[in-house]
Amino acid sequence: MPRALLLENIDPVAADLLGAAGYEVESLRGALDEDDLVAALDGVDVLGIRSKTQVTAEVVRRRPDLSAIGAFCIGTNQIDLRAAAAAGVAVFNAPYSNTRSVVEMAIAEIIILARRLVDRDRSLHAGTWDKSASGSHEIRGRTLGIVGYGNIGSQLSVLAEALGMRVVFYDLEDKLALGNAQPCGSLEELLEQAETVTLHVDGRAGNAGMFGAEQFARMRRRSLFLNLSRGFVVDHEALRENVLSGHIAGAAVDVFPDEPREQGDPFTSVLRGLPNVILTPHIGGSTQEAQHDIGRFVAGKLVDYSATGTTTLSVNFPTVALHGSSAARFALLHRNVPGVLARVDALVGGHGLNVDGQVLATRGELGYAVTDVNAPLPPDLVAELEALPESVRLTAFERRGD
Ligand SMILES: NC(=O)c1ccc[n+]([C@@H]2O[C@H](COP(=O)([O-])OP(=O)(O)OC[C@H]3O[C@@H](n4cnc5c(N)ncnc54)[C@H](O)[C@@H]3O)[C@@H](O)[C@H]2O)c1
Repeated sequence: MPRALLLENIDPVAADLLGAAGYEVESLRGALDEDDLVAALDGVDVLGIRSKTQVTAEVVRRRPDLSAIGAFCIGTNQIDLRAAAAAGVAVFNAPYSNTRSVVEMAIAEIIILARRLVDRDRSLHAGTWDKSASGSHEIRGRTLGIVGYGNIGSQLSVLAEALGMRVVFYDLEDKLALGNAQPCGSLEELLEQAETVTLHVDGRAGNAGMFGAEQFARMRRRSLFLNLSRGFVVDHEALRENVLSGHIAGAAVDVFPDEPREQGDPFTSVLRGLPNVILTPHIGGSTQEAQHDIGRFVAGKLVDYSATGTTTLSVNFPTVALHGSSAARFALLHRNVPGVLARVDALVGGHGLNVDGQVLATRGELGYAVTDVNAPLPPDLVAELEALPESVRLTAFERRGD
């Protein structure tokens, strides 16, 4: 029976779907560090994680039997994708499932900051009646600057406009502007116009520290700042100084450079205790709706992959979409060099089998060839395919109907 290990409190729908597909599933609440992870992966075919578990090249090297990893979140830079692909481990994530949740939280925070509701709430809980319009604003008519116009940034753009905001955005890539949103040619151009700046960039290494003292200085006086993307993109010391000086009128931060690993762990940050600053524990995408959808989506990808070899939306494998096979199927992940398919077909023909169908996709240094044949695979053929010098991993699939 194949085994799946699910870490970090993944929605139970994932265990249900994997269980229904024939997996023996173990679910743990927390993340594991490298040595504990390697130990826990003994005999495990499929690993499910969220953002805290680091799957390093070392983990992949020490667990050669692992076949696939599900990242039950959006980001995948906690996984060494290259090392995983080179070892024949397919990685899947859920790029869209929690987009709406992040957008709704950003909208809520923009309003809360503009009205200074956090401070009002703290005062009243402390027993002080502080009724005042000072520093309180409507968001209607104000300019929102969105940095990173991907899945989240672009959906936020639509909702913010619906609330009457003017939207400007900046993205490294040329993006289609939705509604009346205006693209900016540079981050500086955006910072000059926006009264609220919100970051929705991805976690690429080049974004480390992209928003610091220089960028805060360029923001308009008394503007608002939000980061719900990645913790390491913002210099928190610089943000603190700008809040204390009053240059930034308020901030909402959901992601931190060093986040505690476990529920209830202590949290330290230079941003604690600042006025009109909302701190949340990386919950932008954490709604029950999003977690359920992520669980369903990623588990579905893992089940499809192990049943048919389908790699649609894999973040590190060449991608092919497949249905059931007619008699027998094998998928050969191989080094992307000339002549591999010809060698595969010659081996298949040498065993008197006919190729019913064949699909090839490539991605950088890797090729992924899926072959359907008209009879069960002889063990000798499997051994010969595995012995090809270009072979990275061979997976044979049981017979399945369409
Ligand atoms: N807070 C949470 O709980 C939570 C939940 C989901 C996603 N996220 C994070 O939100 C971010 C956005 O997610 P997404 O799904 O929209 O990603 P995405 O990949 O669809 O969009 C990111 C966009 O940012 C752009 N970009 C990257 N670097 C940039 C830079 N330096 N300047 C300008 N543009 C830049 C990219 O070109 C891309 O269009 C990611 O970092 C993701 O990890 C956080």
